[in-house]
Amino acid sequence: MTRGAYMEVITVANNKGGVGKTMQCYQLATHLANKGHKVLVIDLDSQANLSSTFNLQIHRTLIPEWLIGDVTIEDVMVPSEGKGKFHKNITVIPSSRHMANLSKLLILSEGEIRKEAGRKERLMRLRLEQIPEGMFDYVVIDTPPMLGDELIMALVASNKILIPTQAQDYSIDGLEELMDTFEIIKETENSSLEFSIIPSMVNARRKIEKQRLEELAQSFNITPPIRNLVQMQESISLKRPICKMGKKSRGHQDYQKLWESLNL
Ligand SMILES: Nc1ncnc2c1ncn2[C@@H]1O[C@H](COP(=O)(O)OP(=O)(O)OP(=O)(O)O)[C@@H](O)[C@H]1O
Ligand SMILES: [Mg+2]
Repeated sequence: MTRGAYMEVITVANNKGGVGKTMQCYQLATHLANKGHKVLVIDLDSQANLSSTFNLQIHRTLIPEWLIGDVTIEDVMVPSEGKGKFHKNITVIPSSRHMANLSKLLILSEGEIRKEAGRKERLMRLRLEQIPEGMFDYVVIDTPPMLGDELIMALVASNKILIPTQAQDYSIDGLEELMDTFEIIKETENSSLEFSIIPSMVNARRKIEKQRLEELAQSFNITPPIRNLVQMQESISLKRPICKMGKKSRGHQDYQKLWESLNL
């Protein structure tokens, strides 16, 4: 298997909604591109929030057709658009609500998938392996807030999962379900898969959050936290990545610490 030797595949996942996955993908992709790396961003969420942040609102995504092999990667990828030179290093595979066709298409194409990939879970990995060497240094994948086909395929294809987690009871309970899935994939399909838990939208002045973070740190290795900051919301609405905000910006400082801890 050639993947991994020249391209790092990073999936941002949490089956809980609204925890900061899309934020994490946007900041990661722009950070890597700003450092000069060539980045492929794949939006697997039919809400297409990440695609819109890269100014790409498309009528109909062909991601399901690409995965089953009916169209090529050239048919699904588009250059990122926006202010800033770093955009030239970013290519996006945008999503749309047609992403919801995926599960149906997977059932209809079962026979061909079995011949080509063995199992549907391996389709994304297979497609990424077909990318010519040197085209991209990193792949960053955003996933929907559920444990469905999109997420499983992304996990099988990845080297690393980043799991943004809010320090609240419900989020931490949901994490166990995701960790069970992670363990199964590690045992069956992808033994080198690694994960990092990123405390997200943290308000450390709230006692209860501080306490939950400490509990989380007892069960898992957690990264430095990303605070809940108005400037993070502005970064998305103005489509201006945090790496382009001043070094004094608190969001910039949080992400700097995070990237250092993850060697990114
Ligand atoms: N560190 C932060 N500080 C303040 N607001 C944040 C932060 N991170 C994310 N947000 C905001 O919280 C909301 C949810 O974030 P985001 O869309 O990234 O979550 P998500 O996990 O991708 O959601 P979904 O599950 O619906 O895809 C957005 O409005 C986003 O701008
Ligand atoms: Mg999202």
